Amino acid sequence: YYLGIDIGTSGTKTLLIDETGAVIAEANAEYPLHQPKPGWTEQDPEDWWNATVKTVRSVMKSGKVKPADVKAIGLSGQMHGSVFLDKNDKVIRNALLWNDQRTAAQCDEITSAAGGRKALIKMVANPALTGFQAPKVLWLRENEKRNFDKLAKVLLPKDDIRRRLIGDYVTEVSDASGTLFLDVVKRKWSTKLISKLGLDAGLLPRVVESDEVTGTLTAEAAKLLGLTTDCKVVGGAGDCAAGAVGNGVVKSGVLSTSIGTSGVMFVHSDQPQYDADGRLHTFCHAVNGKWHMMGVNLTSGGSLQWWVDSVIRGLTGVADAKRYEAATAEAAKVAAGSDGVLFLPYLNGERTPHADPNARGSFVGMNLTHTRGHMTRAVMEGITFALRDSLEIITSMGVPVKQVRASGGGSKNPMWRQMQSDVFGKKVTTLVVEQGPAFGVALLAAVGDGAYKSIEQACSATIKVADETAVDKAAAKKYDQLFPIYRDLYGNLKESM
Ligand code: XUL
Repeated sequence: YYLGIDIGTSGTKTLLIDETGAVIAEANAEYPLHQPKPGWTEQDPEDWWNATVKTVRSVMKSGKVKPADVKAIGLSGQMHGSVFLDKNDKVIRNALLWNDQRTAAQCDEITSAAGGRKALIKMVANPALTGFQAPKVLWLRENEKRNFDKLAKVLLPKDDIRRRLIGDYVTEVSDASGTLFLDVVKRKWSTKLISKLGLDAGLLPRVVESDEVTGTLTAEAAKLLGLTTDCKVVGGAGDCAAGAVGNGVVKSGVLSTSIGTSGVMFVHSDQPQYDADGRLHTFCHAVNGKWHMMGVNLTSGGSLQWWVDSVIRGLTGVADAKRYEAATAEAAKVAAGSDGVLFLPYLNGERTPHADPNARGSFVGMNLTHTRGHMTRAVMEGITFALRDSLEIITSMGVPVKQVRASGGGSKNPMWRQMQSDVFGKKVTTLVVEQGPAFGVALLAAVGDGAYKSIEQACSATIKVADETAVDKAAAKKYDQLFPIYRDLYGNLKESM
C-alpha cells in the first residue's frame, strides 16, 4: 500500500492506494489562506503539518490496512512557496505562496544580476516571476532583515512536510524547477546564479529525482502518523507534475489542462525546450530524465469562484451546495461567444503569457440585452481562452499535441469540457477516476518502492481514459474568431489596469 499526500492551497488531500492503483481511503483537511495586503498570500506551515497528520490518521483509521503494510509515501504540494527555517528548524515567519505578488522589484534585481533576461533563461530555463521562490528569499533579505539573519534553510511547502517526516532537507527536480535556483537542463542547483545573487547554496536542500527514496519515517513521525519507521518517503513532485502523472501525462504528444484555483496547461517533453520569450515554464518532469513545459493562469477556476461566491451569491436563490450547478446552467443557455461579452480573468495579476502582477480582470462588450448567464459564460470562456494562450505558445514551439486531457473542476462539468474542446479545437479526454496530484505521487511512491519499473509503467497499469468530447465545429469557428479579439484586449487595456 502507498500514501499520496498533496499539500494544496485550500487544503491537504491524502490518498491510500493499493499496488493496482485502487483507492482504499481518502481524507481532506482545510486550512486558511492569509492575505495581509492586496497581492500578498501566506500560509502557516504548521497548518499543513496538522492537516497531514490528521488526514494520514484518518485514512488509516478504518483498520483495513496495517501500519507495516504502508511501504512508501509520495509528497505533492503547491509549488514555489517559501518556508523559512532558522538553525533549529523553527519556522521564522508565515510562508509566502505561489500566487504572492509582492516581489516585482526582486525579479528585476535577479534579471540584472544574471546579466539580463536571456542570460537568466540560459541559466535556469525560466525568467524571474513574482511567484517563484528565489525572489521571495531576496524580498526577505531586503524587507525583513532580522528574519533573514536567522535564515538557515528555505524549503518548498511539501519539502517542509518531508523534513518533519524524515528529519532531512530534500527536494526533487520538478518542484525545485519552480524555485528559479535550479539549472533545469542539468537537473542540479545553479550555483552560478545562487552566487550572483549573493546567497549561500547551503540554504537549499539536496535535490533528487522524483521517484527516488529520500529517507524513512523518524520514530516520532511514525508514532504520530500511526505508521512504521520502515515506511519510505519518495521524492514526489510539485502539484502540476504530480497532477500530470496522475493523469497519465508521461509521454510525448499528451497535454493536460487543469482548472483549479489556478489553471495549468501542461505538456510532456523528452527534451528541455524553451520559449525564447520565457512565456512558458520549462521545468523538470517527475518522469526520470524528462521535462515538461507549462503555462499557468493565476486565477482560473478562482475567477468563477469569485464570480459565483463574491458577486452573484444570493442572487440565484439556490441552495449553497447547488450554486455552481445553477450558475453554469444559466451559462449553458447562452450561445458560444456569450453574444459578445468578453472577460479577462486577471483578478490577481497574470503569469502566462503576460507575466504581469498588475494585470486586472475586466468584462468588456456588454449591452442592454446581456444577462447574468451571459456574464457567467463569459467568465468560463475567458478562463478557457487564457488556457488557449498557453496552447498557442506550445504549438508554436513545434511541440506535438495529439491528445488533450482535462482535469480539475473544469473537467467535471460536461458543458465546460465541451467548451474546452471547442476553444482548443481538439478532442478532449477525461479519466474514469480522476484523483489528481495525490494519486500521481502515490504512484511515484510505488515506483520508488519497486512495485513498478518506471512511472510510465505504473501509469499504463493503473490509469484508464473514460470520456471523449468531440469538437463542435460551429462553436469552434466562433471561438477562432473571438480568440484574437480576446488576445488584443490585454494590450489595449494594460495602461488602465
Ligand atoms: C504552478 C503554480 C500553481 C501552484 C498551485 O506553477 O504556481 O499551479 O502549484 O498549487
